[in-house]
Amino acid sequence: MVSFDNLKEQGYQRLGTLLTEAQCRYLRGLYDNGGHFRSRIDMARYRFGRGEYQYFAYPLPPLIDRLRTSLYRDLAPIARQWMENLQLPAEYPDELVRFLRKCHSGGQQRPTPLLLRYREGDYNALHQDLYGRIFFPFQVICCLSQPETEFTGGELLLVEQLPRAQSIGRVVRLAQGEAAVITTRYRPARGNRGFYRTNYRHGVSPVESGERFTLGIIFHDAE
Ligand SMILES: [Fe+2]
Repeated sequence: MVSFDNLKEQGYQRLGTLLTEAQCRYLRGLYDNGGHFRSRIDMARYRFGRGEYQYFAYPLPPLIDRLRTSLYRDLAPIARQWMENLQLPAEYPDELVRFLRKCHSGGQQRPTPLLLRYREGDYNALHQDLYGRIFFPFQVICCLSQPETEFTGGELLLVEQLPRAQSIGRVVRLAQGEAAVITTRYRPARGNRGFYRTNYRHGVSPVESGERFTLGIIFHDAE
């Protein structure tokens, strides 16, 4: 298990290779199989960027369900400390099923894991993935395509806005099958008098050539 030091210090952490090439191919192959999804979003239509993505329907494909469950288990203790440092109330049980029960009883019942497809010229504007009052402070992004061979451009962008200061931009290039965890909303940064809150957004730079698929694992469900 990784230490998560970089998550605490910079708001993101590489998790190493979580999916084999065959698993990446399998997940990409689901994109055109409408039976797995509850909705398709054309980003240009909502001015979110350009390109499209689809939210999985329940039941999730077992591979995604297993990943979501095990990643949550690793991240929940850090999430509790994170929110305490932010001085925000939050309850994250040890197990994802129990957290999802809280989401569902709070009116957030729709699944949020998603598959994103970017083609030449497509990009994702800087944003946060919040879908209601209840949110988990981390989400995981896994690259399903091979950079340089299958696409160029299309880097994960992270922008951290510091209070009363300029923003820091970071670029994360992921290999095929590699994943990173990012903060969904804030990062508690250590200051002279305890922690202060930075605001964190993410996006994807324009794809210059080819096609790039990613899997997004969001832990809270949507209204
Ligand atoms: Fe996002």
